[in-house]
Order: sequence, then C-alpha cells, then structure tokens
Amino acid sequence: MMADWSAKNPYMSKITECYILNGEGSRKETRHIVFDLGKSGLDYKVGDALGVVAENPANTVEELISVAGWDGNHIVTTHKGESKLRDALRKDVEIHRVNKKFVQSLNEKVTSSELRISVKLIDRTRESTTSFSSGDSALLQELMPSNPSDDPVGRIENMISNGEAMEDYIWSRDYIDVIREFDVTYTPEEFLELVDRLKPRLYSIASSHDAHPGFVELTVAIVRYSHHGRDRGGLCTIYMADEVKVKKTNVGVFMSPTKSFVLPEDKSIDIIMVGPGTGIAPFRAFMEQRVIDGGSGRNWLFFGDQSEKTEFYYKDEIESWLDEGHLYRFTTAWSRDQEEKIYVQHRLKEHGKEVWEWFERGAYFYICGDKTYMAKDVHKALIEIAIEHGNMSEEAATIFIEKTMMKEQKRYLRDVY
Ligand SMILES: Cc1cc2nc3c(=O)[nH]c(=O)nc-3n(C[C@H](O)[C@H](O)[C@H](O)COP(=O)(O)OP(=O)(O)OC[C@H]3O[C@@H](n4cnc5c(N)ncnc54)[C@H](O)[C@@H]3O)c2cc1C
Ligand SMILES: NC(=O)c1ccc[n+]([C@@H]2O[C@H](COP(=O)([O-])OP(=O)(O)OC[C@H]3O[C@@H](n4cnc5c(N)ncnc54)[C@H](OP(=O)(O)O)[C@@H]3O)[C@@H](O)[C@H]2O)c1
Repeated sequence: MMADWSAKNPYMSKITECYILNGEGSRKETRHIVFDLGKSGLDYKVGDALGVVAENPANTVEELISVAGWDGNHIVTTHKGESKLRDALRKDVEIHRVNKKFVQSLNEKVTSSELRISVKLIDRTRESTTSFSSGDSALLQELMPSNPSDDPVGRIENMISNGEAMEDYIWSRDYIDVIREFDVTYTPEEFLELVDRLKPRLYSIASSHDAHPGFVELTVAIVRYSHHGRDRGGLCTIYMADEVKVKKTNVGVFMSPTKSFVLPEDKSIDIIMVGPGTGIAPFRAFMEQRVIDGGSGRNWLFFGDQSEKTEFYYKDEIESWLDEGHLYRFTTAWSRDQEEKIYVQHRLKEHGKEVWEWFERGAYFYICGDKTYMAKDVHKALIEIAIEHGNMSEEAATIFIEKTMMKEQKRYLRDVY
C-alpha cells in the first residue's frame, strides 16, 4: 500500500549511508546517499525521483538572527503555521541566497536608514549642550555607514533597473551579507513576507526497490562554493552532506513518480542509456531492475565524467554487470583525462553506425543529467547519427528523432535537470 506521503506531508526518514564516491584528488564531491523507508509503505519504480525536504543550517539561522538583531524565540506565522522565529527560519523559508524581492525592498529601507541617521543627528543635537555643527566629524562618523564613499541608494537603484547587475549581486550573497552591507533593519514579519518559501529538491532514484527493499538510494553532486569570505553552497546538498546525522536526523522525503521515464514493458527490447556525472543515477536503478527482470534485451551504458581515476562511480557494480553479461556494452567519456575534451556525444557519434542499428531494431534511448548543455549536445548528435547512418536529410533526421522516436514511439526519453 502506498501511504499518503507528499511534499506537504513528507515521511520522516533517516539517512543510513552517505559516502563520497569520488577518489582522492577529485575536484568534485558526489555522494551515494541511502534513505531508510522504514514502515512508511512508500514504494517506487525505477525512473522515479525522490523529493527531499531540507532545512537551513542552525549556525546560519543563528548568525542571521544575530545580524538582524532579532529574538529567535519571537513567535511568527508563516505558510506552515505558527512557530518560533528560529524554527521558521530553519524549516519554512530559503535563507541561503538572497532573492530579488528583498534587494528591491532595500530601496525603501536604505532611504529609511538615512532618515534614521538624520533623526538621530537631530536627537543628538537636541541632547547636546553645545549646538551641533556639520563640522562635527566624530558624530557624523559614528552615525554614517562605515564606507561613506559607497552610494547605497545608487547601487540599489542600479540593481533594480539592470537585470544583469541584479543577477550578479544575488549570485554570491545571502541575507546576512545584504543586511550587513546596507545596515538595514527589518522586523521578522517584514522579512518573512519577502523571502521565498522553502522548496523540496528532487533526485533521480539510483536503486531498484526490488534490489533494495525498504531503501531508496541517490547519487548526489554536493554544491559547495565560497563567497565574501564564507563557505556556503546548495540548500539541500549541504543539508544532506553536512547537517544530517546518519541514522539520527529525521529527514522529510516523498516520492515523485514518473509516467514517461520508464523501462520498456517488453523485456526483450534493447536500451541505450546516456548518463554522465550524476546522470548515472537512474541507470544504476535500470540495470539493477533489468538484472532482476532477466529479459533478453541488451543494455548499453554511456557514462562519463572528469577523470576515470576519481569519477568512476559504481565501478565494481558496472564491472560485475559486464562480467556477467548483463551490461552488453559500456562506453566511457573521461573529459579531462587528455588534452581535448571527450564527452558522451563524441562517443555516441564514434559508435554511430551501431547506435543506428540498435535504433533500427527498436532500441529505447535514455538521457539523464545536465539539461543546459549535455542533453542539447546529445540531442544534436542523435540527429547527426540519423543523417549519417540513416541516410536522411537534416529535416527528415530531425523529424525522426524529435517526432517519431520521441513523441510517437516514446522511445527517446529524458530525465534532465
Ligand atoms: C527531476 C530531477 C532529478 C534530479 N536528479 C538529481 C540527481 O540524481 N542528482 C543530483 O545531484 N541532482 C539532481 N537534481 C538536481 C537537484 O534537484 C538539486 O537542484 C541540486 O541538488 C541542487 O540543490 P541544492 O538545494 O543543494 O542547491 P540550491 O540551493 O538549489 O542551489 C543550486 C544553485 O546554486 C547556484 N550555484 C552553483 N554554484 C554556485 C556558485 N559557485 N556560486 C553561487 N551560486 C552557485 C546555481 O544557480 C544552482 O542552480 C535533479 C533535479 C530534478 C528536477
Ligand atoms: N541544470 C543544472 O542546474 C545542473 C545540471 C547538472 C549538474 N549541475 C551541477 O553541476 C555539478 C556537477 O554535476 P554532475 O556531477 O552531474 O556532472 P556534470 O557537471 O554534468 O559533468 C559530468 C560530465 O559531463 C561533462 N560535460 C560538460 N559539458 C558537457 C557537454 N556540453 N556535453 C556533454 N558532457 C559535458 C563534464 O565535463 P567537464 O566538467 O570536463 O567539462 C563531465 O565530464 C553539480 O554542482 C550539479 O548540481 C547542475
């Protein structure tokens, strides 16, 4: 029975394993993460994704409370209900990157803080026994922003009117940076009104439930970077890698089933899987399932990443699938093991004749991983293969790949992000 778990009502699971797949010296941190489904009744099929509900790190929350001058125990109301401010900042909103709405709100706030300075100047002049003159540099220095050469109002106006400047500004900053930089005051209520609701993240499932009953496994690239003197990174990946205590912390999860990214029902059909980087995740699951199902369809996996030495994820499993004949073909593209870049689409084209023969015999074609560059380039390579090996015009090849295979026959399937 599939229980009624969802993004709004996630099952509180525990992570039982969270280890780095990369070898020493890698530039990347890609982890294999296992969740225990316990008595949830949650089920999944290969091709589905898992939703993970992250929380903001406690130390970031406390730093934000301190920089903003709030009381963490103050009771607030968000879309999730009433709670202490501290808890709302952890669980209800995204605080790891500043949003545009907040930067836009500075326009009014910075004017108000200048007004505050004027009011303070007037107050101090009234209190003072000697009258205040504009030459009172000590007083001005005390009250003015630390870097008077900055024109905060002008900078904010520029960001509001110039999309690129805005993107550039928000790319590397969180709310702590901005509140510090502009020395602005927000009430917790004003703040919560402006920031984004915390969104779950989806991950392609890297396991077959039949092979790992009661567990769900992921392949996750951890997003880490450093800006303005502070280490930071992605909300959910940093949460899973750094914040969650294995076998201790409760982590909210739910299933996100796919209708289209599925194995062919007929187990005698061949499949070609292209999954560089974390794109390998669903194909580990597909392979586990195809081994259990025991059909006669052949499996060809294209995998690649920066270096064979450090990014050959699931090497032992892949080698044993090859040894046992479950994986008919395994083609690699190690992009940085030689001077020129070698990517999966280059390998596909090198093997174009055979890929075309597989297509002619009805093979399914799957891609998973980067949507922005890789999936587009692989798509182009498929059209080029149809031109060269299917003797088609560019137009006919495009129609064959995009209409016949993708839309009509539904055997060109993508899980790209
Ligand atoms: C259907 C689906 C399946 C997916 N499957 C997988 C999977 O199997 N494995 C996997 O790892 N991911 C997968 N993803 C991506 C995943 O959902 C998350 O988007 C990813 O893990 C990042 O989440 P995060 O919360 O850690 O980062 P976020 O907080 O969302 O931040 C990510 C953003 O940080 C920004 N960023 C990156 N580098 C920098 C930098 N140097 N400076 C400033 N900003 C930067 C980028 O804008 C990036 O988009 C999938 C996504 C979808 C939609
Ligand atoms: N749309 C997205 O937001 C998105 C999608 C995927 C990954 N990412 C982020 O990227 C980071 C790592 O992701 P990942 O580990 O899955 O791997 P990845 O960065 O996608 O890299 C995997 C392999 O693909 C290669 N590659 C780069 N450009 C390519 C192209 N145009 N065509 C084909 N291959 C190409 C890479 O080579 P080189 O590195 O040598 O160039 C590498 O060998 C993570 O931080 C992840 O969150 C973001």
